[in-house]
Amino acid sequence: MKIAITGKGGVGKTTLAALLAQVYADHGRQVLAVDADPSPCLAGALGFPAELRAGLKPIAEMDALIEERTGAKPGTTGGFFTLNPRVDDIPERFSALHRKVRLLEMGSVDLGGSGCICPESAMLKTLFTHLLFRKDDVLILDMYAGVEHLGRATVDFVDAMIVVVEPTRRSLGTAAQIRSLANDIGLKRLWLVGNKVRDTAEADFISQEAEKSAGMPLLDTLPADMAVQEADRLGQAVYDYVPALRQAGERIAEQVAVLVEGERS
Ligand SMILES: Nc1ncnc2c1ncn2[C@@H]1O[C@H](COP(=O)(O)OP(=O)(O)OP(=O)(O)O)[C@@H](O)[C@H]1O
Ligand SMILES: [Mg+2]
Repeated sequence: MKIAITGKGGVGKTTLAALLAQVYADHGRQVLAVDADPSPCLAGALGFPAELRAGLKPIAEMDALIEERTGAKPGTTGGFFTLNPRVDDIPERFSALHRKVRLLEMGSVDLGGSGCICPESAMLKTLFTHLLFRKDDVLILDMYAGVEHLGRATVDFVDAMIVVVEPTRRSLGTAAQIRSLANDIGLKRLWLVGNKVRDTAEADFISQEAEKSAGMPLLDTLPADMAVQEADRLGQAVYDYVPALRQAGERIAEQVAVLVEGERS
């Protein structure tokens, strides 16, 4: 099962990705969490200890590795380099494992087809395709905010996309853009998750606007909780520190598994 999490900047993609990853891992599933944000945050949200985080670096920034595999230095254009470098050893070698969640930091990867023809882009695209072909039990992809980087490669392989929104028209507008892009490229399974919901008026707003503005069904909502920021400050996983979010994460994880796999996880 491969799930991509998208949405406008700051809505809570990383928070939800961390919750789902830990829920599935605690249910005994093998989880690979992929941070595809150029400024990675998923390790923090998962509560990875500092010494493990220190050993992680986005693949996009590993210049020597990119040069070794593609035959050209990142940042160069016009020279010769391989378009399909070897990547099969990368997920195990450069990831970290904590509480049964394996985490790989990729850095930003442009799948929209507008990216540069350069060694780093060849490397990331090949790695991304490799990840999506792997037979991981559960793959959770925490995507970069916005829509520009989404492309056919995403939807060819992911089973579903979760779009996170806040109770704001702006984030619903981004959700609508994502939905229209997903439609163009044939991704069928697309769900909304509301986050930072403070009261019933905000919950009602999201449930009314889900189909109307964003054009997709609402799976569930997560409450606004100051403890989420506190967890971040203390270096704790939201999963451990904020019971209300953990419970919501459990509900969402179960629904997603039922919808995608047609069975209870
Ligand atoms: N339910 C919540 N209640 C309160 N604060 C929250 C909640 N969810 C997320 N936040 C806070 O909102 C901020 C953004 O959350 P998060 O990093 O998960 O969003 P994101 O969509 O991944 O952001 P980015 O676009 O920068 O990757 C963080 O400071 C986080 O602590
Ligand atoms: Mg994020």
